[in-house]
Amino acid sequence: MNENINFQRRKLLKMASISAAAITLFPSLLTAKTGKINNQASLDFNPDVEIRLTEEAIKLPIFAGPKTNVWKVRGEVLKGDSSVITNDDNSYLAPTIRLSKGQKVRIYLQNNLPANSILHWHGLHVPSKMDGNPMYAIGAGESFIYEFEVLNRAGTYWYHAHTHGVTAKQIYSGLAGLFIVRDAEEQALDLPRGQFDVPIVIQDRSFDSQNQLQYTSHMMQKMQGFLGDQIMINGRPDFTLSVATRAYRLRLLNGSNSRIYKLAWDDGTPIKVIATDGGLLERPETVPYLMLAPAERREIWVDFSSKKVGSELTLRSTEFSVGGHGMMGGMGGGMGMRGRGGMGMMGGGMMGGSNSSLPSGGDYPVLKIRITKKSSHKDKLPRRLSKITPLQIADADNKNSPRRITLSMRHMSALLNGRSYKMNDIREDEIIPVNTLQLMEFDNGYHRGGMGMSMPHPMHLHGEQFQILKREYSGSSASYNSVNKGLVDSGWKDTVLVMPGEKVTFLKPFNDFTGIFMYHCHNLEHEDMGMMRDFLVK
Ligand code: C2O
Ligand code: CU
Ligand code: CU
Repeated sequence: MNENINFQRRKLLKMASISAAAITLFPSLLTAKTGKINNQASLDFNPDVEIRLTEEAIKLPIFAGPKTNVWKVRGEVLKGDSSVITNDDNSYLAPTIRLSKGQKVRIYLQNNLPANSILHWHGLHVPSKMDGNPMYAIGAGESFIYEFEVLNRAGTYWYHAHTHGVTAKQIYSGLAGLFIVRDAEEQALDLPRGQFDVPIVIQDRSFDSQNQLQYTSHMMQKMQGFLGDQIMINGRPDFTLSVATRAYRLRLLNGSNSRIYKLAWDDGTPIKVIATDGGLLERPETVPYLMLAPAERREIWVDFSSKKVGSELTLRSTEFSVGGHGMMGGMGGGMGMRGRGGMGMMGGGMMGGSNSSLPSGGDYPVLKIRITKKSSHKDKLPRRLSKITPLQIADADNKNSPRRITLSMRHMSALLNGRSYKMNDIREDEIIPVNTLQLMEFDNGYHRGGMGMSMPHPMHLHGEQFQILKREYSGSSASYNSVNKGLVDSGWKDTVLVMPGEKVTFLKPFNDFTGIFMYHCHNLEHEDMGMMRDFLVK
């Protein structure tokens, strides 16, 4: 730990010494109406692209009637092609950033919110200092400068607020957007592009009668994770995708706080998955339905050529259950909720704990598609999409002793290896030697036979993408069978849904960068409740 503090201090000293020069070189910094600038632009970094992201509180006309207060990120390109940033002024979502692998980018984050905040690049392999750890949060009026090279392969990544204790609320208010990376391998493929390559951000929100976003402060709801009663697509309540009779590439991101989707076409067509968190799969995979947990991305290829102009198709979330041993029994007992009328509050949700009119595990429409145009374009899904070299256990630094991360919930807290999040609290088992491959596992009650207070947890690690080796399961097969055919585990991942009673084993590289990298549950309420820790890579 001390070494890490020293490392940070050395970096700070180095940065302080060049800051005056940096200001002379980057006069735009002075014109920004900022207070402090955290993290100076460095002289030896020559960006291909420079952008400014400004966070501010604005009112947005989402519905007829009163405008909705949201926290919006506006983007502008200071250097480079203007297509790097796509702002959507009618959505609370942050702009979509599009860069190519190998490009160097400098991002000026300007916080004009009445609160601390910091942005994290989810799924990107960037230096620790550029990763948006909560310790780098900046205050109102301040700015932070990120500089990094895009090292990731082509894929659908995203970025979002990562502010200590309020990540859920800040993302809910709007602080999240897509970060799409291209590369030569992907561009060479014959996949739908331009207007036929469509990002679909799926979220759930609740609004009051004045059209204002409603968040929850109920502990019981936080234990479950927030569930809204309205599905928003790309920040819109009434989104319909108009398509032509040809193939599309849909980039799905589950940007919800805690809601898990089990996506299926309402005409029974299987889903063709072409990419996951870390980009293209080796070859397309066909599943009857697709599980999409918070923070996960999946790209699907869908061909509407057999559809009639004027017809409609819906991607729905269909029924599933998550815990045979019951969230409700487990939690009610564990938390003493029954005494406070817990069951009543749990409402009709299959998972319990929700008073959303869209219970998790229920059946409801997610994305409406209307076929509006004839197209004679003929598409064929490539049989081979990319080359993925499987990581090998034999190459792991710890091949005989996997690092186990035990997930648990009790007494109003959500824990990793029995610990809650604390800044600067690295333990022995959280120190990882740099440039090693680690064999790791998430254990969600597997060794308890799925008993106890179990919930699904979408587990995420910062830094490089990992590969899933296997899932092992002990528990009620009835509920497990309602989801397991939709768990696509191939390719590169940064977030994995760990079901109650499950153990997921994976291999994760920790190359190139030393410093702090987080691992946490991406159920944002769990994350804010402390189901998050830091690794120190050194
Ligand atoms: Cu999506 Cu710690 O992040
Ligand atoms: Cu992340
Ligand atoms: Cu969780």
